[in-house]
Amino acid sequence: MKKNFLLLIAALLTLQLLAQNKKIFTVKANTITSTVAPTMWGIFFEDINMGADGGIYAELIKNRSFEFTKALMGWTVTSTQSIQGFYLGSEITVVNQPDKALTNPRYIHVALNQHQKGSLGVTNEGFRGMGIKKGLRYDFSISYRQQTAQIKLHLELISEKGTVIASTVFLPAKKGAGWQNGTTSFIANETDSKAKFRIWFEGDGSIDLDMISLFPSDTWKGRKGGMRADMVEALAAMKPGFIRFPGGCIVEGHDLSTRYQWKKTVGPVEERKLIINRWNSEFAHRPAPDYFQTFGLGFYEYFQLAEDIGAAALPILNCGMSCQFNAAETVPLEALDNYIQDALDLIEFANGDSTSTWGKVRAQMGHPLPFNLTMLGVGNENWGTQYIERFQLFQAALQKKYPAIKLVGSTGFMPMGDVFDYLNKSLRNMQVSFVDEHFYNRPEWFFANATRYDSYDRNSTTKVFAGEYAGQSDRMVSPENKNNWLTALSEAAFLTGIERNAAVVNMASYAPLFAHIDGWQWTPNLIWVDNLNVMPTPNYYVQQAFATNKGTHVVPITYKNNQPATGQDSLYASAVIDKINNTLIIKLVNAAPQPQQILLNVEGLKKKPTTAISTVLQSSNLETVNTIAAPPALHPLTETLALQKNNTTVTLKPYSFTVIKIQQ
Ligand code: AHR
Repeated sequence: MKKNFLLLIAALLTLQLLAQNKKIFTVKANTITSTVAPTMWGIFFEDINMGADGGIYAELIKNRSFEFTKALMGWTVTSTQSIQGFYLGSEITVVNQPDKALTNPRYIHVALNQHQKGSLGVTNEGFRGMGIKKGLRYDFSISYRQQTAQIKLHLELISEKGTVIASTVFLPAKKGAGWQNGTTSFIANETDSKAKFRIWFEGDGSIDLDMISLFPSDTWKGRKGGMRADMVEALAAMKPGFIRFPGGCIVEGHDLSTRYQWKKTVGPVEERKLIINRWNSEFAHRPAPDYFQTFGLGFYEYFQLAEDIGAAALPILNCGMSCQFNAAETVPLEALDNYIQDALDLIEFANGDSTSTWGKVRAQMGHPLPFNLTMLGVGNENWGTQYIERFQLFQAALQKKYPAIKLVGSTGFMPMGDVFDYLNKSLRNMQVSFVDEHFYNRPEWFFANATRYDSYDRNSTTKVFAGEYAGQSDRMVSPENKNNWLTALSEAAFLTGIERNAAVVNMASYAPLFAHIDGWQWTPNLIWVDNLNVMPTPNYYVQQAFATNKGTHVVPITYKNNQPATGQDSLYASAVIDKINNTLIIKLVNAAPQPQQILLNVEGLKKKPTTAISTVLQSSNLETVNTIAAPPALHPLTETLALQKNNTTVTLKPYSFTVIKIQQ
């Protein structure tokens, strides 16, 4: 009898302990703690890693206007009349005539003496080759001037193996003293990711050539001279709340001469003066001597892209300081007027009516209606008192003329320490709308910082823009960094903290965005591409899961002891409701190597649904990466989850990120 009693007590105690150890999550679907900003989960765009030229900007010809530092970079001249590489009679000459156009002074002069096709030509290597698709139309355009006889241009696309996979003849139509524009199109009969483009010249006489350009016809929205549709689609699929452009350090420039100047990126493409890309020589271990910014993708196109994909535009402008890691040039305060004027004019370009000076430029480019710009960044990763002094001058002028425009200020290159504390405090004292925080840290940091924003003042009028983050599997700027599952999982854990703190963080974006597998300088990156394919990383899928399930309001999800799940038992969680679609969306991260069974106790649902949709990103191997050659190893898998009346048992897979969507 006594023995039985003792056994009963022991069983009861075990049950009690088990109950205490149960991994119960309680969600209160009808208790709103904050509103999710419509700008949440956006995109950071920078022309790094061949993100613009050689990337999303679909131009296939590298150095189309002969304005690279080395005028014929990207081109080779082929002549049957060459002796050991020297061409007889200098049939192709580079002419530099600054009075022709300040922005595009160079062109080539082709002199022919009864040349047959195949005796003199130029070949362009593209950006690490050209991605050519079988059956697709390619649109060629050129600027030419021919005063004498007619020269024929034989156009050919050459495969990596050296065979002609597309060809046509372009006959310059007009003769005369002036420059003419010509176009023609042709269709490729084979696919090749490393093709080249060749022009053979035939005839007798001479011709001047400039702006030799070739675009695929399948650009985004079929726009002439437009963007790679597959890359834009990857952005659109994230349903971004905003797009920040054009960077990044590219805004600052290595020195002030290479800073980004938006006015030089609008208007006719041939008048946009190219400059060296600051990533050209930034890293000795990843030199890119052929990396220039042609600005074919300029501010008009960025605004148009934002509009196309439903994202709020967030331009960032130079604050009068070049990159402090490089030349660290500073414009004296009394000479800052031009910089400030650029900011004022940008707002007019975006929002002014089409009779205003800059609104007219926008209208002439094809967009008479305003772009409805609401925010503007001044400075990227700038720091020190110099930055704050300059920011104050911008702020005074911008607030006076455009008080509704929200300004974004930089808290430097690290999310902690003296530099950060000084900038964060100063900008908040100045009541700047957003402080831009950057995180390039190891995965441990991201896991540990899921609580970062829990202690921020939610009533502050200054909100956080988590403008650049990426888990570093090795260390910042290491070429060994991988977009592996560990980094993505750690970001997912961190992002639950951002989501929970929607009252504090109003914008967030991973950085950098794009990288070309043969042309990158920086790793990791959200999306990798080659000339024909787009490869979403595990990090992309995490970012996309948050962005496409952002909801409209945050609701509490608590774990044991009524606390947010911020790493207890290696679990992280956040929850939102979407008032538009009547859904409750729960995000759960299991950072443990084993499966974990949890109980989901959802209170306050409007209806009692019996099923939910569960989308899982998972790999038991934290080293998992996606590769461009194969379908993504790591991608979301969706299944139906049966909901029980009270607590629903959910098994979270090892190292997994799960999004549960309940229609209510
Ligand atoms: O995202 C790459 C670089 O990292 C950005 O240009 C800069 O802002 C940061 O240091």
